[in-house]
Amino acid sequence: MTEQIVDIPWGRFQALSAVEKVPYLMQDNGAPYHTLFAQQFSAELLDDLARLANKIRAIAKTRAGTEFLKTQVSHKRAMLYFSQPSSRTFLSFMSACQILGVQTGEVRDTSISSEFKGESREDSVRTFSSYFDLIVMRTPEKGLAENMAWVLSNSERPIPIINAGSGQDQHPTQALLDIYTLLRSFERSGGLRDKTVVFCGDLLRGRTVRSLSYLLTNYSNIRQIFVAPPQLQVGEDIVAALKQKNTAFEVTTDFHAVLPEADAVYMTRIQDEWDNDKGDSDRIDTRLFKFGMRELELLPSRGIIMHPLPRRDEIATDIDSDPRAMYWRQMRNGMWIRAALIAVTFGCDKRIHEYFRHNY
Ligand code: NCD
Repeated sequence: MTEQIVDIPWGRFQALSAVEKVPYLMQDNGAPYHTLFAQQFSAELLDDLARLANKIRAIAKTRAGTEFLKTQVSHKRAMLYFSQPSSRTFLSFMSACQILGVQTGEVRDTSISSEFKGESREDSVRTFSSYFDLIVMRTPEKGLAENMAWVLSNSERPIPIINAGSGQDQHPTQALLDIYTLLRSFERSGGLRDKTVVFCGDLLRGRTVRSLSYLLTNYSNIRQIFVAPPQLQVGEDIVAALKQKNTAFEVTTDFHAVLPEADAVYMTRIQDEWDNDKGDSDRIDTRLFKFGMRELELLPSRGIIMHPLPRRDEIATDIDSDPRAMYWRQMRNGMWIRAALIAVTFGCDKRIHEYFRHNY
């Protein structure tokens, strides 16, 4: 594996755009070493990961297959460092590790770790690297995962970092499972091309929207429609990235007008943990940005409903039994695509492909 991130001082690396940072984060074979941004994933790499995830889930259906998978990365240990609330992403990574035999350790509450004694984050992360071979990291701070990736690559024990959510900024592995879900859902309707994806909810502060919107620009003729109250509308940086990529997009407050055109609706929760003053979000009228029976009627029969979860009331529970409700399957897809990501990070994907070829 190359750790090219050593060739550049932190200040210069930090000043680069996400796209410019990509070459520093990849292995020679084009797979990610550190996974920090959605910008690291081309359509080709996404297809490779989706294919690998499909094989892993097929192999895992038998006892012999499960036993085979469990030996693939059993020589590696992963630290799950989650200093921000999480249940599904944490469990999803833990399960993905278990599928491949990776042993895990965890820090979920920094108040009971040495950070509380005043240890710097840098020292904590270097400590983890003495015991572990991978760090999966969720933090409220934008940029921390990439700073730690640089620190580790420049230490005597470089190990990869996977960003499991960095503040309001990015959530690249959520975007992987979202793309995987879209690829699977559109398998029989021409694939992920010539489609309209409607995002609805808190598009300003939702990191999953930023990462997915970016990944969708890899596919041809995907129109993105952003539906939100004006105060929570999609950020300038996303708009700039879409313009730069020549992607068709619209910004609107009229959910009902765009629903009949949707191939996928991506609902999101109001991210009120980021309010400057407690209660700010409650003063925003969000009633028109929820998905209930009326919205279900407007959605075409081909349209799927997605949500990164957790939900509050933005999708009525009556919708759950509709075949177009994809969010529970979407969540489970996360475990398989994360297993695929961990497999390519540690370079055991070839063996999995071979096993599949011989047994299926
Ligand atoms: C999302 C997150 O943490 O950004 N959750 C997740 O990882 N599935 C979405 C959210 O919290 O609203």
